[in-house]
Amino acid sequence: MKINYQETTSDLLKRINIHDQFGGRNIDEWMLDLLQLKPGMKILDVACGAGKQCVSFYNKLNGDCDITGGDVSPELLEKAKQETSSKGYKINFLPLDFDQRFPFEDNQFDLISCCFAIYYSTDIPFTIREMHRVLKPGGRLFTTGPMPQNKQVFYDIIKEATQKVIPPMPGSSRYDSEILGAMKTTFSKVDVNIFENPLTFKTAEPFLEYTGASLSEDRKLWRDFFTGKEGYEGIMKEIASVAQKWVERDGQIVMTKVVGGFIATK
Ligand SMILES: C[S@@+](CC[C@H](N)C(=O)[O-])C[C@H]1O[C@@H](n2cnc3c(N)ncnc32)[C@H](O)[C@@H]1O
Repeated sequence: MKINYQETTSDLLKRINIHDQFGGRNIDEWMLDLLQLKPGMKILDVACGAGKQCVSFYNKLNGDCDITGGDVSPELLEKAKQETSSKGYKINFLPLDFDQRFPFEDNQFDLISCCFAIYYSTDIPFTIREMHRVLKPGGRLFTTGPMPQNKQVFYDIIKEATQKVIPPMPGSSRYDSEILGAMKTTFSKVDVNIFENPLTFKTAEPFLEYTGASLSEDRKLWRDFFTGKEGYEGIMKEIASVAQKWVERDGQIVMTKVVGGFIATK
């Protein structure tokens, strides 16, 4: 199934920034703790976006590694290249569409990561088989994505504000079912790790900024929820008034991210 979705640099960076500012925990530390990287590793980050995970790996290994980031968005790849070359980091970035055969020979990588993206794949078993193919025997695939309990409060506020049924999201509706299942079918071993991160908002504004960058028209995921710019603004207004009411009532909004980190071994 083709998912109608695209990520924009501004929406992605806004959400990352809000996690960093308001989250109680750091997801990159959790990821690095789980992965126990070794110097010299050859790593492919699929759907690398603006390069967040590539940079974490590179810093952790003090540059003693061979890292490639691939993404389908030329805009995000450009951002990743700019950010890393300005710091003198040697990371390769290239166009990669995970719906197509990967541009690599078999058995190349020690680690493949794919963070917050695999559920946008058109054919999940195909994408996972490609990842398996280009991993070395004994190599690992690490994926992250939302578990079904992820950010319940976000959806509750949107439901209360709009009285509408939330459209099924490609992530929370498929990650711990279809995707985990395909990983178990393709790999010899899969471990499931859970990361919980409460984001605490003492005022409604950052919650609304996060919501705006999630529902954003450009990302296309919430297209059935409103029509055009006016529809988007109308819905954001309704959400703002409910978020404000919640803050006045409870003194804060706590939105907990519940992320699954799956590690599959070839
Ligand atoms: C939510 S972002 C995550 C980016 C990055 N991994 C991070 O955590 O910051 C999802 C990414 O998936 C990428 N993406 C979507 N469809 C893709 C495809 N078919 N092939 C490769 N990347 C894709 C988007 O361009 C975007 O960079």
